[in-house]
Amino acid sequence: MLNFPPDHPARDMQDTFFVTSGNPGSDVLLRTHTSPVQVRVMLDQKPPIRVICPGKVYRNEAISSRSYCVFHQLEGLYIDKKVSFADLKATIYSFAKQMFGTDVKLRFRPSFFPFTEPSAEVDVTCYLCGGKGCKVCKKSGWLEIMGCGMVHPNVMRNCGIDPEEWSGYAFGMGVDRTVLLRYKIDDIRLLFENDLRMLRQFGA
Ligand code: PHE
Repeated sequence: MLNFPPDHPARDMQDTFFVTSGNPGSDVLLRTHTSPVQVRVMLDQKPPIRVICPGKVYRNEAISSRSYCVFHQLEGLYIDKKVSFADLKATIYSFAKQMFGTDVKLRFRPSFFPFTEPSAEVDVTCYLCGGKGCKVCKKSGWLEIMGCGMVHPNVMRNCGIDPEEWSGYAFGMGVDRTVLLRYKIDDIRLLFENDLRMLRQFGA
């Protein structure tokens, strides 16, 4: 439904934890991203559509100060008449300014996702080191916080929406990385350890 054939190499991108269920035809796995929710919404609702769906996702990642095997994504989907990439960009800029301040810098890097075309990944200046380079941004001064793009016509067709009439954008934001930048936390693992000294700083 997301325009992802079962043997497509783009499946590698998401570092899936594959699970053998033992029962043919009932393959199960821990979801690697929240984009499947887009499909559920599009099957269920007629455009115009505006949704935000948060969720836990699981990836077979090399664990580091910037990546953990569990994290949270916030999926956004907007479908209406004449929605353009400019609308997507303006929305992301507006979000970033409110979250990180008006002097935030963003970088849209061309990317590939089977379910969006064109696609981009969005980097934010690393607030931890002020862009100088640290362990979280791998000395690059930038931290990737989301993937996004224009909903692929095949995905719309799969869901019974006419791509000649409607267009839309989607994004999947890494909530945890956004939190690192916002609160200047230099290790993502601190968000998952349930250390009371950490939790108490957030009102627990
Ligand atoms: N689901 C993608 C990922 O996790 C991000 C994404 C969401 C990209 C929505 C495009 C549109 O890598």
